[in-house]
Amino acid sequence: MSRLIVVSNRVALPKEARAGGLASAMQAALAERGGLWFGWSGRLVEEGERTLDRRSEGRVDYALLDLTRAEYQEYYLGFANRTLWPLLHFRQALLDFSRKDFAGYLRVNRLFAEHIAGLLRPGDRIWVHDYHLIPLGAELRRLGVEASLGFFLHVPLPPRDLLAALPHHELVFSALAAYDLVGLQTPTDLNALLGYFRDECAAVADEGGNVRLPDGRRFRAGVFPIGIDTERVARQAERAVGSAANKRLVTSLEHRRLAIGVDRLDYSKGLPQRFEAFGRFLSQHPEWRSKLSLLQIAPPSREDVPEYRELRSRLERLAGATNGRYAEPDWVPIRYVNRSFQQETLTGFYRSAHVGLVTPLRDGMNLVAKEFVAAQAAEDPGVLVLSNLAGSARELPQAIIINPLDPDDIVESLETALAMPLAERRERWSAMFEHLRRHDITAWRNAFLSALDEA
Ligand code: UDP
Ligand code: G6P
Repeated sequence: MSRLIVVSNRVALPKEARAGGLASAMQAALAERGGLWFGWSGRLVEEGERTLDRRSEGRVDYALLDLTRAEYQEYYLGFANRTLWPLLHFRQALLDFSRKDFAGYLRVNRLFAEHIAGLLRPGDRIWVHDYHLIPLGAELRRLGVEASLGFFLHVPLPPRDLLAALPHHELVFSALAAYDLVGLQTPTDLNALLGYFRDECAAVADEGGNVRLPDGRRFRAGVFPIGIDTERVARQAERAVGSAANKRLVTSLEHRRLAIGVDRLDYSKGLPQRFEAFGRFLSQHPEWRSKLSLLQIAPPSREDVPEYRELRSRLERLAGATNGRYAEPDWVPIRYVNRSFQQETLTGFYRSAHVGLVTPLRDGMNLVAKEFVAAQAAEDPGVLVLSNLAGSARELPQAIIINPLDPDDIVESLETALAMPLAERRERWSAMFEHLRRHDITAWRNAFLSALDEA
């Protein structure tokens, strides 16, 4: 079996409670197969003090590269997270472009390529992940790397008109043609990619995702919806309900119902809308006051980006206002927790909850939705409320699908979820669980790698 090199900006070491779908998914994808995982060490150093830290954990070897403060600023905070992230999540108004950041982005991609090229052995396959590293493939080719190159985009890809709003977009997106295979989460994302290449690069693209550019370059694009390690999450959840942390949670509820949300504190997740809808639900349904709580776990993310800090203050005001208005001496409506938890602990919380609220305004996939389903008890499963703007909605149509931009839709979904009879809950849940079992993280990894071998 040839060696697999996974490259991503964020790398997860085992047992790290690091919020983020890419890191948790790739950890599951590599655990049993093994491979080399290359990425940012998470450390910031002075120029000249950069190290490439090599270590092994289980079957996975890690190669972790330090960044300088300027690189972090320009590549990560700037171009990746203030330019590409809002654009790819359909938030053009939040996009902040600067040439300096863009240059830093390209520089770090080149730096990654140089270090990876130095680690390569014959027969290696390279699999690059997410928007931080779109030009990496082209940089590797420039260095003469001939290895098989795959790319997977974890976030959504908006239509061509929006992509073309990015200054110098052609330098970014047409670089995808350097890969042999480009994977996307949904057919909508794939159509956007093909549309972009047809309109902006005069490429010919067929229905099978084969793209040919006028200069003769070819690549394949396809849909590979990412999954979770379903069986493992189910097993973890069974164990975690008995954990001390979960027992404390359940005891504290005193038989009240629990709705749960778990999201990085990110403006794509629709958290203000969720808080407002929860307040509206309590206002319209006085009978549920003192009987239902929302546990919102929201670990802070990208706190050096101003939009994320502003969101945090806004959520504090919203949670405070709702709690101030409806709380009783022995009950608060919103339990708002700004820290991260181990995935295993979360599975126990999911299993103890009656409703899972996953209401992003845009999400490439949303793994929390899948983990919530996988963690339920077959005898008495909770109900998933899921945004139609998350990639996972396409795979989980048995959830209560809502539009997060209509607060009344969220209010009504809570009513429906809380009143849903056991038989219906079971029927919906088993269809979703079966799907997640068949389309798990191993199936996803294997599907992508076989397609890469064919491409
Ligand atoms: N997560 C975690 N601890 C936390 C919050 C989240 O381990 O405190 C994990 C969660 O289990 C999931 C991932 O972070 O695997 C979030 O992925 P998702 O696709 O839902 O959203 P993203 O953060 O990637 O936008
Ligand atoms: C999303 C992105 C990932 C990223 C994660 C956490 O899932 O698709 O690429 O790793 O968010 O964000 P962070 O900036 O902390 O890596």
